[in-house]
Amino acid sequence: MIVAVSREAASGERRVALVPETVARLVKSGATVKVARGAGERAAFPDALYTQAGASLVDDPASLVSEADVVLCVGRPDDALLAAMKPGAALIGFLSPLGDAAYVAKLAQSGATAFAMEMIPRITRAQSMDALSSQNNIAGYKAVLLGASYLPKFFPMLTTAAGTIPPAKVLVLGAGVAGLQAIATARRLGAVVTGYDVRAAAREQVQSLGAGFLEFEIGDAEGTGGYAKELTAEQADAQRRFMVENIGKNDVVITTALVPGKKAPLLVTDDAVAAMAPGSVIVDLAAEAGGNCSQTKPGEVVTSANGVTIVGTTDLPSSMPYHASQLYSRNVYALLTPMVKDGAFAPDFDDDVVKGACVARGGQAKVGA
Ligand code: NAI
Repeated sequence: MIVAVSREAASGERRVALVPETVARLVKSGATVKVARGAGERAAFPDALYTQAGASLVDDPASLVSEADVVLCVGRPDDALLAAMKPGAALIGFLSPLGDAAYVAKLAQSGATAFAMEMIPRITRAQSMDALSSQNNIAGYKAVLLGASYLPKFFPMLTTAAGTIPPAKVLVLGAGVAGLQAIATARRLGAVVTGYDVRAAAREQVQSLGAGFLEFEIGDAEGTGGYAKELTAEQADAQRRFMVENIGKNDVVITTALVPGKKAPLLVTDDAVAAMAPGSVIVDLAAEAGGNCSQTKPGEVVTSANGVTIVGTTDLPSSMPYHASQLYSRNVYALLTPMVKDGAFAPDFDDDVVKGACVARGGQAKVGA
């Protein structure tokens, strides 16, 4: 089996799909691993570590993938790479298939057997493959660091000769993987933290991290697979009104609320931003999906009319590329190894994980949008 690791197509992407540690494991199990020269450099994995791990370095993207049985990437590959893959070869990465039927059709037309990391079902057996979780964990951590660095205040309470500094108040909206990590990180930095989510199960998880839970009764909005359901228009409206008075009491608001395949719910309205004190910070992790805050600009840091810093940075996992790549690489390895039989790539398409992750095969798109 030949496995190819591409350079990432997106210019700002610093992660790499396989780190040398995982390359060594694959080589030990008999695979041939080819890595695009320089693929790991921006994640602090130089080429020399890949050769030591048993990979060969390849300069030309077409020769990298033309004989590969499996091509690994973090984000979507560019069209040239897709076209150069051998027919039927597997492509594994964050392919963002939901809501983009045209792209899935393109994958299908290319003849690739495409597996999207974000489509792996969230069942117990697949936890080690869960790249959404491994990357969102990083995003939650980095969101707090960003919030702390933009805030013109301390996070911890300090007793100094010049008087006492009260701790910062941090509100985390959405207590999934990123939100829970944000809560834990803000607590470690000494802030007083409150969490909130529409799923009833989140209350106990928030409280177990030593944070308060913002109580707002709309009933449990848990849908399938542990994800949230979209609220009705009335519920969403009531939620936004409730948020206005609570958001203003905080120095930092970190928003992580998402509903799979939908635009991110609007939680922080113009009125809520106006209720915050100058110098307060909003870090909107949902920026890429449309934002939880009305004034978020994806990929930008803006200041509201009343002096609130609104951080819409979208590449947080990529900004911590060493560990982001290491965890992603382990997720990919965990997905890939059960698909290898007697040294050959032979996925069992009746398996729930394989079936769930596969978005294109044999010229056919496997997900609608
Ligand atoms: P996500 O990234 O889809 O959403 C983030 C959070 O936003 C979720 O907690 C969701 O409930 C919340 N949310 C959505 N709409 C909201 C609104 N209007 N107001 C406030 N909050 C809102 O979710 P994520 O982080 O991927 O995790 C979702 C769940 O899946 C969690 O319970 C997590 O523990 C669980 N999970 C289970 C796994 C497994 O069993 N293998 C693996 C990873 C996560």
